[in-house]
Amino acid sequence: MIPAHGGRLINRMVQGALRDQLIEHAKTLPRLTLNPREQSDLEMIAVGAMSPLEGFMGRDDLNSVVHKSRLANGLVWPLPVTLSNKGVTCKAGDKVALVDGNDALLGVISVSECYSYDKKEEAEGSLGTSDDAHPGVQYLASIGDEYLAGEVTVTDLPTHDFANERRLTPRETRVLFKQRGWNTVVAFQTRNPIHRAHEYLTKCALEIVDGLLIHPLVGETKSDDIPAKVRMDCYHTLLEKYYPKDRTVLAVYPQAMRYAGPREAVFHALLRQNYGCTHFIVGRDHAGVGSYYTTYEAQDFFNSLAHDIGIQALMFEHAFWDKQAGAMATAKTSAATDPSDKIFLSGTKVREMLTAGQRPPVEFTRPEVADILIDAMASKATV
Ligand code: ADX
Ligand code: MG
Repeated sequence: MIPAHGGRLINRMVQGALRDQLIEHAKTLPRLTLNPREQSDLEMIAVGAMSPLEGFMGRDDLNSVVHKSRLANGLVWPLPVTLSNKGVTCKAGDKVALVDGNDALLGVISVSECYSYDKKEEAEGSLGTSDDAHPGVQYLASIGDEYLAGEVTVTDLPTHDFANERRLTPRETRVLFKQRGWNTVVAFQTRNPIHRAHEYLTKCALEIVDGLLIHPLVGETKSDDIPAKVRMDCYHTLLEKYYPKDRTVLAVYPQAMRYAGPREAVFHALLRQNYGCTHFIVGRDHAGVGSYYTTYEAQDFFNSLAHDIGIQALMFEHAFWDKQAGAMATAKTSAATDPSDKIFLSGTKVREMLTAGQRPPVEFTRPEVADILIDAMASKATV
């Protein structure tokens, strides 16, 4: 089985008597409320999806990540994982209780450092822009000026309002892959319903590996992305009819979107390595937003670090419906020369059609998926 990134699968969950003691102790501590992204990060650290991280980053790591896409020890790590302070007075050596928006305890951080970091520097380094229209820049502007760093110990995972039964931890996916006898597993990251292009990529990949993990991101996304609940219905329906059950696993990836393009592609891949995957799909404009990143920038960035990354990227060109062939294709496989024979699809385009009350055509989306999306739009309109 592929090792975790950094060599050791981290576990920061605490159980039994130790958990009971920590819950009692937490009652005496100052309380820090985590925003949705921080709650997702806490979960990912707790279950080992963020291995080798055992807590939130301090200044040395953050600075190294921002400028070099590596932790201070040199290990590839492309994105900040930080915890913002919200008015708690604390210093190195203190412990702080971490709570959700309802003041329910999630865990405790052993504070190693309280520090501030220049937001513009962080944005330009990690997102490649400080334009305040970028959702990641908006996030940075929305949080306080101080970060808390330190190891976390987690008593309870954040509550999700859906799909808990498919919330497999890296330990659980690793056991599952082993049980299924899969030596090679490709992970597919998505924040969209699975459209025809996604189906094409995942099935091309499935031709050359033993198993497929469909791993949709279900943490916080921007408000115009299709809600995770609706997407889960789409995935279930599509998988039922169009994917081989014995070679496909659907599980949720409870992480927030950063919209960091190239850096997030590497981040997504490293975390899937921790889940036990050997391969990771990177298509066009992976984790992109607007026009901040070019079509294959994520692939180029991945290639520039590939020698220091365990998981292997399966890279795909921009896929389209080839009218002449009556099938999905890319420039690598299509004979079509007339641009009108190539129907390029995108999640953004489908969202625009749905908003305008139009049914996405079969070249974009399987009818079963279109039905779910149209129903979801209709019920949203009547709310
Ligand atoms: S995201 O994480 O990259 O934002 P999204 O759902 O948009 O998720 O895309 C999932 C994956 O499919 C990414 O690797 C993306 O590059 C790839 N992808 C999406 N559409 C296409 C397409 N038409 N051609 C090639 N790759 C695509
Ligand atoms: Mg996309």
